[in-house]
Amino acid sequence: MKISQNEHHQRRHALLEAIGPDGALIIPAAHEVMRNRDTHYPFRQHSDFLWLTGFPEPDAVAVLAPEHKHGDYVLFVRPKDPERETWDGRRFGPKGAVEQFRADNAHPLAKIDEKLPKLLASRRRLYYPFGQDDAFDPRVMGWLRKLRAQARKGITAPSELVDSGELLHEARLRKSEAELTLMREAARISAAGHRALMRHCRPGMNEQQLEALFLHRCAEQGAREQAYPPIVAGGEHACVLHYVENNAELKDGDLVLIDAGCEQQGYASDITRTFPVNGRFSPAQRELYDLVLEAQRAAIAKARPGEPWDAMHKAALQVLTEGLVRLGLLDNKGKKVGKLIKKEKFKPFYMHRTGHWLGLDVHDVGAYKREGKWRLLEPGMTLTIEPGLYVAPDAEVPEAYRGIGIRIEDDILITDAGAEILSRDVPKDADDIEALMAGETSAKNGAQTARARSTEHE
Ligand code: GLY
Ligand code: MN
Ligand code: MN
Repeated sequence: MKISQNEHHQRRHALLEAIGPDGALIIPAAHEVMRNRDTHYPFRQHSDFLWLTGFPEPDAVAVLAPEHKHGDYVLFVRPKDPERETWDGRRFGPKGAVEQFRADNAHPLAKIDEKLPKLLASRRRLYYPFGQDDAFDPRVMGWLRKLRAQARKGITAPSELVDSGELLHEARLRKSEAELTLMREAARISAAGHRALMRHCRPGMNEQQLEALFLHRCAEQGAREQAYPPIVAGGEHACVLHYVENNAELKDGDLVLIDAGCEQQGYASDITRTFPVNGRFSPAQRELYDLVLEAQRAAIAKARPGEPWDAMHKAALQVLTEGLVRLGLLDNKGKKVGKLIKKEKFKPFYMHRTGHWLGLDVHDVGAYKREGKWRLLEPGMTLTIEPGLYVAPDAEVPEAYRGIGIRIEDDILITDAGAEILSRDVPKDADDIEALMAGETSAKNGAQTARARSTEHE
């Protein structure tokens, strides 16, 4: 499934209304990036551009100019070029941009210096993502200069330059039914991948073998793109938050942390599970694991409409800090938990936030605060909840806890009634994980129990 052109049209329609006839918006597409001679990194369309247009090619530029006599949605695109298309793949060209992407008008990129300034002429406000594209920014300034030079003809240049983020990113924050279908699909496929890793993991395997299996499981289910490079971190590698080397042996007695999620039509999933390489948690691993899970459940209980964004983080911090004291990792020196939290005594063990918006970008756009206050959650928002604990190998704590890194991350949709856990198909109760890894028939129930539990809150 793809987002329909009808939906892209509706998105643009709402923006055109918000911009008004006094304004215009320019959104550039992403560019191909050279990896080395004749080879590019895999192309990924810029999320703002993709959300607005659905147009998949690099270098294009979209302009919204409400009520302009030449049409209020104009695309500049790569021209048709039979020779280049033979080497690099088909292009839609201006005709395809009009016919298949519903542009009112489309031009080859070579015409942009001539045509684009006319779309901005005598409009007061220009919305544009300033500072995002180093090569494109000076071109926008050049078009403004060109318009200013025409003052004696009675033409003015936009005088109000507004970052397009607020307008676009507020709209991107609330997901449509079609977007949710894609996000559910991405989470379902990733969850199946995570379950496969739990089943196949054995001591002596290499981290990259688990990575390879995850990529394989996603691709064979139709999700070839990952939302970010998978993290497969055995033992103390899990204490490196963005570990991506994924090339060490997985050792008997260690945990492995897997943070991996595929994309569907650009929409991300972002799931983390931590499980024992040999299928059985040690007592110390289990204590810390259960603590992180309790923190995650406490945070999920705050994922409901009307709660401020930081309620989830606060709930996780409360549980984690109490637990660190109880287990003897943190000396409270007679102080209350509230005081320890205020002084950030948890920081050596928990140094990141409890979640982020999720959407076309894995760390999706959208403000977390409004007028200085944490914003309130609303139905249609999607986010992650991902508390963790990371005990450095040289931490001054009881030895059994050293070098353990745990994170549990789920993808959440805020609904009218509470929350839907999009990533519910991968077990997270320690008993359910052990059962799945042991290949017990109840393993299947693990996923089902997780599913049942997620609906408790719906
Ligand atoms: N995988 C990136 C994150 O969890 O934020
Ligand atoms: Mn995340
Ligand atoms: Mn993650």
